[in-house]
Amino acid sequence: MTVTRVGVLVSGRGSNLAALLDDAALPDAPYKVVAVISNKAGALALERAHAAEVPALVVERVAFANRSEQHREILRLLRASQVDIVVTAGFSHILIPEVVDAFPDRILNVHPALLPAFAGTLHAQEEALAYGVKVSGCTAHLVTAEVDAGPIVAQAVVPVRDDDTAATLSARILAEEHRLLPHAVRLLATGQVRVEGRKAVIIASPPHPPAPSP
Ligand code: GRF
Repeated sequence: MTVTRVGVLVSGRGSNLAALLDDAALPDAPYKVVAVISNKAGALALERAHAAEVPALVVERVAFANRSEQHREILRLLRASQVDIVVTAGFSHILIPEVVDAFPDRILNVHPALLPAFAGTLHAQEEALAYGVKVSGCTAHLVTAEVDAGPIVAQAVVPVRDDDTAATLSARILAEEHRLLPHAVRLLATGQVRVEGRKAVIIASPPHPPAPSP
């Protein structure tokens, strides 16, 4: 079985990274995490990568003349790690077009809302509560030039309760993110995502080759 090489971009806690590392360790996983790159030194995500013995690199803005140069370095490292798929998992930057274009339909992001609702915000759960929606959830989508607007690969729904706070709703959504993101990475890694216009169509897994005749 070909194993797809995944690079994960992070900035903080790294709980979605941890979900991917756990999933990638399962015997049937069609992918492995080969590089973790953080734009923040000291991110907890880096410790999770170390614990899983995955190379973890820090590319901080302060070391570069501008954000474009910083992202070009991230791109160089992704290429050096021969990454097939990139996952942005709690990554705090919008990727420059050069990085997006280098991995067409090969970058997955997880967003803590049911897109297209509450797109382009770092406070999706607070905004969902303030709006008074009765369900929310999370979305795994491909990254394109427009923020949070790429083809949707998978979504999961959670109820919003009247007594929810941002913390309780975020925790309920996060538990779903941890299931959704590995599922979406597996779909992409196994060639089950076909992009048709603005839609991602999920196709059945390729049939196993026929058993050799006796
Ligand atoms: C997640 O809620 C993700 O959807 C959002 O940022 C959070 C990252 O959490 N983009 P973690 O770093 O994976 O724990």
